[in-house]
Amino acid sequence: MDRVRLGIAGPGRIVRRVMADLRKAEHIEIAAVASRSIERARAAAVEYGIPKAFASYEDLAASDAVDLVYVAVPHPFHCTLTKLFLAGGKHVIVEKPFAVNAQEAGEMIDCARANNRYLMEAMWSRFFPAAQELKGLIRSGAIGDIRLITADFSFRTAPDYEDRLFKRELGGGSLLDIGVYPLSLICFYKGALPEEAQVLSTKTETGVDSLCSFQVQFADGATGQGFAGFEVSTDQTMKLYGTEGWVELPDFWHPTRFTVHRPGQAPEPHKFAPENEGFHNEFEYAARAILAGQTDQRVIPLAESLGIMEIMDAMRARMGVRYPGEGE
Ligand SMILES: NC(=O)c1ccc[n+]([C@@H]2O[C@H](COP(=O)([O-])OP(=O)(O)OC[C@H]3O[C@@H](n4cnc5c(N)ncnc54)[C@H](OP(=O)(O)O)[C@@H]3O)[C@@H](O)[C@H]2O)c1
Repeated sequence: MDRVRLGIAGPGRIVRRVMADLRKAEHIEIAAVASRSIERARAAAVEYGIPKAFASYEDLAASDAVDLVYVAVPHPFHCTLTKLFLAGGKHVIVEKPFAVNAQEAGEMIDCARANNRYLMEAMWSRFFPAAQELKGLIRSGAIGDIRLITADFSFRTAPDYEDRLFKRELGGGSLLDIGVYPLSLICFYKGALPEEAQVLSTKTETGVDSLCSFQVQFADGATGQGFAGFEVSTDQTMKLYGTEGWVELPDFWHPTRFTVHRPGQAPEPHKFAPENEGFHNEFEYAARAILAGQTDQRVIPLAESLGIMEIMDAMRARMGVRYPGEGE
């Protein structure tokens, strides 16, 4: 086998964006698509040129035509479907946020271990060449010891209480949908999970957060500050401040450039070729790990996906945002 056969679960909005990139993943063969309706599965198969269409997620789980499933359904269904595919012997790459809460995340990780399958969160921002180069520079001490990181990811959208973003039953709210980016990427560049987290938020009449502002603190005293929301559009930049300089990372959740600033020196720009949206990187990474039998290889370790869910659980407890099944 020199390519991993990919099945797509949930041909919705994110799949439309991912499909434009996916054919650039050398070691991925797009083999199948599944939906809860055969009409939608067939329509996606025709639109994207995918050979097989399945009328249910159960049929995809039982199929021997795929090795790896991309779980691209709204977050409240990540856990059930991930476990379904793992139990069916498939490796899984699951969209962000990994799950709705840490309880589900733990169940998914246990299930991957019990079935000896590969599982990774599709936190695509970590896979960009710009992100990998910056991570390497930070590791080599290019800006010294990182003490402060700020990041904002907010966009203005008219409230639509029927939309996934605002609906409690669909895991709506800005923290889980986009706040996960500043949180996950602060952890990525700092190279640790924080020990403390605080948050302030504003909620919609549907009971989910439309604006949130958080702070985290690491064991060495360094702090991070993140913003997310649907009320205003922000510039979506991360700034990492170290003892020997600082880095500005525009579009930090899909970066193609950054600038290193050091005292007394000219700013040092780093630029990378645009690559559509860059979704192929995470699939290519997973395919190579699976083909090499290195199923413990992940750019986002499972312990980190779990730790990030635990932090978001604690933040949501303070915000008073609960999802169905979590108790009132
Ligand atoms: N990486 C990124 O940049 C990015 C961007 C956007 C979204 N996302 C993530 O991707 C996931 C999907 O988001 P989206 O905006 O693509 O969602 P979406 O379009 O609302 O839904 C995706 C698909 O999920 C299936 N689905 C809907 N409700 C379901 C249910 N009750 N049970 C099982 N399947 C159901 C539907 O397929 P069928 O009805 O055909 O079964 C739908 O087409 C979310 O977790 C989101 O956070 C990631």
